[in-house]
Amino acid sequence: MSVALTLSSNRYQVHDIIGSGAMGSVYRCSDRLSGQTVALKAVNLERASGQRGVVLRTAITREFETLASLHHPHVVEVIDYGFDANEQPYFTMPYIDHAAPIDVASRTLSTNERIHLIIQTLEALEYLHRRGIIHHDLKPSNVLVDSDNKVKVLDFGIALLRQRQAKEPTGSTIGYTAPELLQGSRANEISDVCRWCPRL
Ligand SMILES: Nc1ncnc2c1ncn2[C@@H]1O[C@H](COP(=O)(O)OP(=O)(O)O)[C@@H](O)[C@H]1O
Ligand SMILES: [Mg+2]
Repeated sequence: MSVALTLSSNRYQVHDIIGSGAMGSVYRCSDRLSGQTVALKAVNLERASGQRGVVLRTAITREFETLASLHHPHVVEVIDYGFDANEQPYFTMPYIDHAAPIDVASRTLSTNERIHLIIQTLEALEYLHRRGIIHHDLKPSNVLVDSDNKVKVLDFGIALLRQRQAKEPTGSTIGYTAPELLQGSRANEISDVCRWCPRL
């Protein structure tokens, strides 16, 4: 796949695209500042110009500041954030080597090990929920497991960014969305887990 991403910052060397979802694309990059391999997520937002664009970029920057202030062993770290040449927001996080979505990783594990993955995920959610952050898009590809069976939850709050901007009904992925959200209710701590845990 070709790499169609131009960043205004020279900090990252973009290597390849890891994957794309409804909310954007993820690229594997080298961070020239730290020498680390990082994953860069470019978030797809409708472009807004003029005053509305300024207001939106300020709100997104605030949101990223909050995400970057979070530190938990099972919540992926937000290293840096900014806007690309098309004024689309992006953020970077550590690249998780040999990462598998939690449902795939679970297939070869014992019941005890699977329960341990769920506990790590719930610890991450508890940490986010205590800070008033609802994930909004909890699904296996946003709960990655590394080669040491350590869980990292990603993409928290990103659905909300899109929802705010585009006024989508939920901003989350159909199939992993709590039924009450489809009927217009607001997302909460319970909707974060309700459709997800029974599948593991
Ligand atoms: N930090 C990361 N390290 C390794 N892989 C990642 C990282 N972040 C995201 N990915 C992977 O990149 C792919 C695309 O992610 P994303 O654009 O969020 O789409 P979705 O989560 O909807 O599949 C997914 O397979 C995801 O697991
Ligand atoms: Mg994702």
